[in-house]
Order: sequence, then structure tokens, then C-alpha cells
Amino acid sequence: MKSKITLAKEFKIGNIDKRIYGSFIEHLGRAVYGGIYEPNHPLADEDGFRTDVIELVKELNVPIVRYPGGNFVSGYNWEDGVGPVENRPKRLDLAWGTTEPNTFGTNEFMKWCRKANTDCMMAVNLGTRGAEEARNLVEYMNHRGNSAWADLRKSHGYNDPWGVKLWCLGNEMDGAWQMGAKTAIDYGKLANEASKMMKWTDNTIETVLCGSSSRNSPTFGEWEAKSLEIAYDNIDYVSLHQYYENRAGDTPSFLAKTLELEEFIYSVICVCDYVKAKKRTKKTINLSFDEWNVWYHSDNAPYERWSYAPARLEDIYNFEDALLIGSMLITFLRHADRIKIACLAQLVNVIAPIFTKNGGGIFKQTIFYPFEHVSNFGRGVALNPIVDCPKYDCKEFTDVPYIDSIATFDEENEELTVFAVNKSQEEGAELSINLMDFEGYKPFEFISMDGYDKNDENSFEASPVHPHKNALPEMDGNIMTANVKPFSWNVVRLRRS
Ligand code: AHR
Repeated sequence: MKSKITLAKEFKIGNIDKRIYGSFIEHLGRAVYGGIYEPNHPLADEDGFRTDVIELVKELNVPIVRYPGGNFVSGYNWEDGVGPVENRPKRLDLAWGTTEPNTFGTNEFMKWCRKANTDCMMAVNLGTRGAEEARNLVEYMNHRGNSAWADLRKSHGYNDPWGVKLWCLGNEMDGAWQMGAKTAIDYGKLANEASKMMKWTDNTIETVLCGSSSRNSPTFGEWEAKSLEIAYDNIDYVSLHQYYENRAGDTPSFLAKTLELEEFIYSVICVCDYVKAKKRTKKTINLSFDEWNVWYHSDNAPYERWSYAPARLEDIYNFEDALLIGSMLITFLRHADRIKIACLAQLVNVIAPIFTKNGGGIFKQTIFYPFEHVSNFGRGVALNPIVDCPKYDCKEFTDVPYIDSIATFDEENEELTVFAVNKSQEEGAELSINLMDFEGYKPFEFISMDGYDKNDENSFEASPVHPHKNALPEMDGNIMTANVKPFSWNVVRLRRS
């Protein structure tokens, strides 16, 4: 199949906020206990953090990590997780039916962030608790001292404030499964008051209003409009969450889910701007896509109720999942002007790119690689390429372009990167890329993942699914020709020579 891509510096969508390469750690399953924290592991450091996990988190180059939930946060007393460990209570976590020992809490997480070269995106409990506990947490974490909560932090051994800048106002508050679920109006009022008080405590922070728990939520659209009308002036971002699945085994439709994702993002932008218009304000609300991934492989996996850190949501990802993850990242970059934060949910063990064995090894899931590539190379500005390629119809969608592509331009380092997924299972593609005004730019690295069966996975024993390097694409004037294989993930990196 022949495809043409045209690229120019003027095709700028927006500056890429590095926080779109964020991730998520929830007190859920083995994300914390057995994931980032396992004091008895041979590779644990003096704080009990698994150093093999930290190394892989650094490879992913994750600039922010959302914490501590998720559904968990809606029943969480943050005070349970600070101070001397021997005094911390064990609690029943109603979100996931397990027992939370609270041996890992806020300060441990902040220490881990420092070691993993990342920042915390903190979520407050607006399910069972309210504005008061939220502002107390801001004071505990961010105030310099000489106040009750800041002094309590100091007495716990943390003299300096943590300075957390980004705060989620609860989690999925529209969902019936959420502890303390609310109507849009009730949530809008609470989030507005909480955000006001949190910002009065520390006026350098930004806050994220909960949008719908997914595009399929029955109140989607209306929820955003109603809660935004109340909280618009006091918040900065609205959240989006979306997980995809391929239970039907329909790969063409699965890979085409990004068309639905486009619609979802576009709809939320429209609702934000509708409220902006109604308010006749200059303030724009941007998007925080703070939960996204593929999630279904671990459905119905049994676990023991009220046990401690059981295996939950431990999806093992296959090759087609990696292609969808690549395509979802391309979709986020296509909206770089409005999506400023995104969190791959989650980071370790629980629907995650990194997988560990308690007391044992670690491996990179298939989805690790496209995320690693885009996070490391997708910097600078996002450029909207004109892609002219054949399209396909499938059960759920029509006119799906076989080639999904985006380019990023890092002007400072004079690097241009083209990312492309070929969704065709049968045909390779000759990508003829017209580099227009990128004179003097030449390819220096061409990475692909291809040649795998859609069901191929990695494991502790073997990691067959991984990227490889190709011969460099040919240049003829400013036309670069890259041949990509059927069913493939591709990254072409160019630099000015
Ligand atoms: O990431 C797993 C769960 O998915 C989160 O706890 C919740 O917010 C969402 O429903």
C-alpha cells in the first residue's frame, strides 16, 4: 500500500506538555505492595523501594505519577498513612475488597517520586470526606511550617515541604461504584469549595475536576457541563478516563477505537468551551486524560476478599494492545493544544507496562515500548501531518485510515520524529514523507515493532515482543521513503545535519 505524509513546521498543533506522559499508582492489588515497595526483596533499597522497578520507571521517563487512587482514594484517610508506621491502622478498602495496611503512605510515595525522577499528581478524597480534609492535606504537604499540619509533617521527619503542584479533586465521582458518588451539581459544589480552599492554602497549585468516568457513562456531557458551570473559575483541568477492550476478538475494530477516542476528546473540548462561552470568560479549561489503557485480560480473576495486596487487574498485554497504545498516544499528541496531562493507568502490575514477581524478577510488557518511545522522543511541538492513505471498514467503524501518524519537532535539539502505526494485518506500506521546509533533516534511527502475532506476549521467562532497528529510510531531495511492515509500530527519528 502506498501512503503519502506531508510535514511542515507550520503544521503546529501545540506545545507538548511533558505531563501527557504521566502514569498512575493506586493502592490496588500489587501496584504499591510488591510493585514499587517490597522491603524484603533482594533489590529493595534502604526505603524498601524495588530498584529494578525504579530503573524501568526511569526508562519510561514518566514526569508525573497520579496517587493514591483511583477508586481507593474515595474512602482513604490520608492521616492513616503518615507518622510512625507502628501506629498506622489497618483498614478495609471497600473499593477493591482488600485490607490496606497503611505501611506505605504519602511521605513514602513522595520519597519514591524523588528517587524515580518523577513528580506526584495527588488526589484528594471527595467521596467519604470533604474540603476540610483536602485543604489539610495541602497544608501538610506544601506549607513551610508554623501551622498545625505542616508542623505535624516536620514531626514525622520531613522538614521541607513537598511542593506538590497538581491535585485531583476526587475520582470518578459520577460512578455508582464510587464511595460517596454524587450528582454533577453536588460534586460541582464540593469540588469548587475544595479547590478554593486548597488554592487559598497554596496559591501555586493547579486542580483537576472529575469529568465522566468514561464516554459511556450515562451522564457523559451533562456531567461535565453542570459541574463545570459551578466550578469553572476555581479549577484548571477536567479529567477524562477511558479503557478499551477486545473481548470480541475483532482486531480491526479494536485498533479503530482511536476514532472513538478522537470523538471523546473533541466532545469534552466542546463542553469546556461551551461553558467558557456561557461565562464570557477568557479562561480556557484544558484536559487531563488521567486514566487510559487497555483493560480486560484479567477480568474475573479470583482473589481472596480482605487479603493483603492480592493480584488484581494483572492484565498481560499482547502485541495488538501495544499497537493500540501507540495509536492512543498519537491521538493525544494530535490534541496537544488541549490535552496537558495524561496518565497511563497504571504503572506497575495493575494494568501496567511493568510487571514484577513478589520476591522475584521483572519484565517489560508489550505496551512498555510505544510508551517509552513517545515519552522519550515525542518532545517539543506536535505537528499535524497530512496523511493520504487507504482506509478500511470494520464492524464498528467506517473509513479507518490504515496509517495513523503524528510528528513531533524538538526545535531546541533540532530533532524531528515521525510516529506511525500500520493497522493493516495483511499489507505493508511505503510511506513517502515530504519533509517540506525541514531542509537538511536526515534520518538517524528507524525503530519498529513488527512481525508478531497479535496475541504474542512477554513473560518472566521470555520477552519476544520488543522493538528492533531497521536500515535507515532513503532520502531523495526532501522526500523520505520509509517501508513499514504490516501490523506495525514505527518511529523514524531525524536530525539536522
Ligand atoms: O485504574 C483502575 C480503576 O479504574 C481506577 O481505580 C478507577 O478510577 C477506574 O475505574
